[in-house]
Amino acid sequence: MNEYDSERMADLLASSHGLTPVEDPDRADVLILNTCSIREKAEDKVYTQLGFWRPLKEQDPARIIAVGGCVASQEGERLRRRAPFVDLVFGPQTLHRLPDMLDACLAERRPQVDLDFPDLEKFDRLPERPGRNGPTAFVTVQEGCDKFCTFCVVPHTRGREYSRPMPDIIREVRQLVDQGVVEITLLGQNVNAYRGATGLVGEGDLASLLERLARISGLQRIRYTTSHPNNLDDRLIAAHRDIPILVPHLHLPVQSGSDRILRRMHRKHTVAEYLEKIHKLREARPEIRISSDFIVGFPGETEEDFAATMDLVSQVRFDQSFSFKYSSRPNTPATRLRDSVPEEVKDRRLAVLQARITSFAQQYSEAMVGTFQEVLVTGPSRRDPAEWTGRTLCNRPVNFSGPAGIAGQIWSIGIEEALPNSLRGRFGSPDMPVAASGRA
Ligand code: 5AD
Ligand code: SF4
Repeated sequence: MNEYDSERMADLLASSHGLTPVEDPDRADVLILNTCSIREKAEDKVYTQLGFWRPLKEQDPARIIAVGGCVASQEGERLRRRAPFVDLVFGPQTLHRLPDMLDACLAERRPQVDLDFPDLEKFDRLPERPGRNGPTAFVTVQEGCDKFCTFCVVPHTRGREYSRPMPDIIREVRQLVDQGVVEITLLGQNVNAYRGATGLVGEGDLASLLERLARISGLQRIRYTTSHPNNLDDRLIAAHRDIPILVPHLHLPVQSGSDRILRRMHRKHTVAEYLEKIHKLREARPEIRISSDFIVGFPGETEEDFAATMDLVSQVRFDQSFSFKYSSRPNTPATRLRDSVPEEVKDRRLAVLQARITSFAQQYSEAMVGTFQEVLVTGPSRRDPAEWTGRTLCNRPVNFSGPAGIAGQIWSIGIEEALPNSLRGRFGSPDMPVAASGRA
């Protein structure tokens, strides 16, 4: 979501002030730090980065330093007190006001702070997206969260759930496809709670949005993230069966495999309910891979609770997933619970969990060796620009040598080796391409 917001800030300042992104902070007239406060140390990281930028401001006092995003909204005025050289402070819902804030700061020669929560007017105020040069793009369709899990800062920083109207999303996706995008990822903190105006009568859910997007000619892959298990209903499960361009991969955070901890987390679902949904999904789309988010060391987590999480991991056989040590976040209810799990126990549980998940992910990768996979070529490999890099349907990076000019196309690639974080592939198969231009 922050990546998307950062792109939109760049678009906005390009159209309002003719600013263009530069790699080197020394050369920037405006430095913007877009921040995330989901987990621990976010604030510390912000102040550390600002410490690096301070000499740049001292060198050139006309240079503008801005801090946006959730840490800005959480820290508020405190940020200006701790880092008085910061010129602009804005929250995640007011980034569209950046050009006005910049003008006001330049005109009045004083810092500007805007941490308002307008009802998501920002989507109506952003410029059209200029030409992107990659085949994949993010599109925010929903923001905020009404679930209030006890550990999570999102409902406090991003606010309540809001869904963009379908016609706006469809227009944005069409525009991206016209610019050469073939894969989109729909974003939302609670994306499957999406309920947006259809443009005709009433509202529609994520399943109907997906159906409508799937009709856009030229669009070849759709992903969406992140979902809550309770909003994965039968209609959405059916969409995974019926929409071929919806990739066979779903990120479905579970957080813990213990019902006692799930209750304390206020997740509003049980382990059995989660497993039932996974079962239905696999019936609907047998090849689907599931990834997840886990928190270890939540207050009160016993060895037994942790063993239950390990059990769940083995039952579901998750693909590459994210796991974190619990950290207390400002204003969240879990801060009132005693953080009873010692740091070294959290470290050990995290290592054990990550090793198990990695071993399943490696098994999935190894099972792909000797098969052909549908790979979207995203561009030259970062390590070796003479090679191409691309993504499988389940989002595994694949590196391979191939002919010039295939960026943005989908090819069938033979998988030769499973490395820890990527696959090595070979270009050239009897039945390629899968869909060099348009799906067959
Ligand atoms: N401590 C640790 N992990 C957290 N997450 C969210 N809040 C916290 C926290 N306080 C993790 C959850 C969520 C992911 C985005 O970040 O696993 O799904
Ligand atoms: Fe946070 Fe996700 Fe829970 Fe919402 S559903 S409160 S975003 S963890």
